[in-house]
Amino acid sequence: HERVAILISGSGSNMVTLADSMVGDHPARPVLVLSNRPDAGGLEKAAARGIPTAVVDHRPFKGDRAGFEAALQAVLDAARPDIICLAGFMRVLSADFVQHWQGRILNIHPSLLPKYRGLDTHARALAAGESEAGCTVHEVTPALDDGPVLGQATVPVRPGDTPETLAARVLEQEHRLYPEVLRRFAAGDRRPVMLN
Ligand code: GAR
Repeated sequence: HERVAILISGSGSNMVTLADSMVGDHPARPVLVLSNRPDAGGLEKAAARGIPTAVVDHRPFKGDRAGFEAALQAVLDAARPDIICLAGFMRVLSADFVQHWQGRILNIHPSLLPKYRGLDTHARALAAGESEAGCTVHEVTPALDDGPVLGQATVPVRPGDTPETLAARVLEQEHRLYPEVLRRFAAGDRRPVMLN
């Protein structure tokens, strides 16, 4: 099996759908859930599934990104992942870190890239009057929210949508898209998956 490490910062709902998909004839298995926040809700969900967890708190490294990433790297090296999935991991990673894992590191982003890189994607899509929104899984490269697209799923924007209602609609699709992309990626298939 391909060994998958999942990096989170929060509730970990995408981590859960990824972890729960890696069963049976799936070509991968989860070997680590790593959070930069000790209070991330996803840590308990991973532990409940018997997945090893680790925390590398970014706060003591204040301004020392190289130090933070060296600590991340040490934990990852011990887990020997073949694939890293960023799943709501809210720290920007340096070019050095990304290059070390290039071709083996995926991210999910809550917009139809190349639109709306960065934060507050749903508020920005609504402010722009978009009729469609969605999510993207892509390979991570040194440029933020860039890199080859491995899959996208679209949803309609509905009248009266708020950033919260739109986020919830998109998140349902994230939970379909990311497991589908990971299954193919772990089997060596990098052709983009387009849902909806
Ligand atoms: C997801 O919507 C994910 O796309 C987004 O954070 C949420 C995490 O939810 N990621 C980013 O914004 C990355 N910059 P989760 O912890 O429940 O999976």
